[in-house]
Amino acid sequence: MYLSNQDIESLPRIRRINIINSISGIKPANLVGTQCDEGLANLAIFSSVVHLGSDPALIGCVFRSQHSRTQDTYRNIKASGVYTINQVPAELMENAHFTSAKFEREVSEFDRCGFNKEYHFDFPAPFVKESRLKLGLEMIEEIPIQSNGTILMIGRIMHLIFPDDMMDAEGNLNLEVIDGIGIGGVNTYYSLRKVDQFPYAHKETVPKL
Ligand SMILES: Cc1cc2nc3c(=O)[nH]c(=O)nc-3n(C[C@H](O)[C@H](O)[C@H](O)COP(=O)(O)O)c2cc1C
Repeated sequence: MYLSNQDIESLPRIRRINIINSISGIKPANLVGTQCDEGLANLAIFSSVVHLGSDPALIGCVFRSQHSRTQDTYRNIKASGVYTINQVPAELMENAHFTSAKFEREVSEFDRCGFNKEYHFDFPAPFVKESRLKLGLEMIEEIPIQSNGTILMIGRIMHLIFPDDMMDAEGNLNLEVIDGIGIGGVNTYYSLRKVDQFPYAHKETVPKL
């Protein structure tokens, strides 16, 4: 298969979405938890979560729709300044997928899609009880991406919760231990298996290959 830029641009919309969302590889499966002013909790699956640096500890996620501003998640973050990011547990991947449905604003995806909310450290955004790796974030910046109207939302990690036994002595986290899940495209889910681990690559230690 070969597709030129022109071929890509003339693909039927859904086919183009599926192909282009698949080509960057496996993405993390996360649920973004937010709360509106009236206290209603909202939950939505996001695959665009990316780490942007560790000092300060920043996480980005892309609000990809041209209509980002109508997404409850975006509106809640803008209004409250806080949100949570919760790794999807493998056993609840279908429930997590359901959160992408366009529910009415007054419907909480926590209740509708079978997740429990929990609160920690007086942080005013809901965490997902069933998730084993969870972050509480404070929004610090949003960058409009001029070329397509999407938005890169940047948050500072205020709280980080995960089981002790997924971390080794050097701080590496093993996602297999918590049965995390990956996303290909917009509808395909993959299991995660730890395959190997290598030390920092110094050019002096790279063997002749
Ligand atoms: C697998 C998957 C990954 C998704 N990732 C994103 C994403 O990274 N950014 C985004 O804006 N929407 C993403 N969506 C779409 C949102 O989940 C969807 O728009 C949802 O309805 C938003 O809910 P809200 O209106 O409650 O914010 C994804 C959907 C699926 C099924």
